[in-house]
Amino acid sequence: MVAACKATGKTIGLVPTMGALHEGHASLVKRAVNENNVCFVSVFVNPTQFNNKEDLEKYPRNIKRDAELLESIGADFVFAPTPEEMYSSEEMNTRFDFDFAGLDKVMEGKMRPGHFNGVVQVVSRLFYLVKPDKAYFGEKDFQQLAIIHHMVEHSSLAGTFGNLEIIGCPIVREQSGLALSSRNERLSKKEKQTAVAISKTLFLSLEWAKMKDATVAQVQQKVIDTVNAVPGLEVEYYEIVDQTTLLPTDTFEHAIGCITVWCGPVRLIDNIKY
Ligand code: PAF
Repeated sequence: MVAACKATGKTIGLVPTMGALHEGHASLVKRAVNENNVCFVSVFVNPTQFNNKEDLEKYPRNIKRDAELLESIGADFVFAPTPEEMYSSEEMNTRFDFDFAGLDKVMEGKMRPGHFNGVVQVVSRLFYLVKPDKAYFGEKDFQQLAIIHHMVEHSSLAGTFGNLEIIGCPIVREQSGLALSSRNERLSKKEKQTAVAISKTLFLSLEWAKMKDATVAQVQQKVIDTVNAVPGLEVEYYEIVDQTTLLPTDTFEHAIGCITVWCGPVRLIDNIKY
């Protein structure tokens, strides 16, 4: 199929997903459908990127509903391999060798050792298999997006994917402000209401950052304190970093604030650009 597309000069758009699709994924797929002749969507809960067995087991799966949604919004192909089809047992059990230039040492990388190894392993494999012209990723996983940009532009793998263009797409939010996530399915109704305080605080922090003499450190701490003051929420980290290097910054220019919060048993992430 890929060969046929290449032979006839059709452009391929790829949207890698782990399924349990929501409007956020749909926005990526709609864009891929619009901007390419053919749209591939992969649905694969990638075991090598989970460092927590329970999280892997509990990750929501509903391929039938996903396939229906994908068909209704115009995706051409759904690729839903099993782990055995994707990896040899050796690949499943060894770390993918990749130089992240430090991008995996901060935030999610620090909290979830090996996570980004698994992400790069699966995404690079999908790129080799599907040979997309464009690949679409959500900005909610901002660190993941930065690492994929690095992989395609600067790492030892750069140049091996042809002229592949990586496209980051804005976070899609519920009307309440809550960032859409497959993990939201695991929140109770009450927890979902509580979780709204996360995005609300991030949006407020845009105003705090504009106040005279506001420093990055002050705003960072105020976000942490405000979210932690909400019963039922516990901040794991909130870091304001440079959008490219992901390193701490002391200016709001080109900065992004990335937050991880436990809401009951569910770990939620969100971010805001200053
Ligand atoms: O963002 C995700 O859902 C996953 O990390 C991805 C990019 C599909 C790789 O498994």
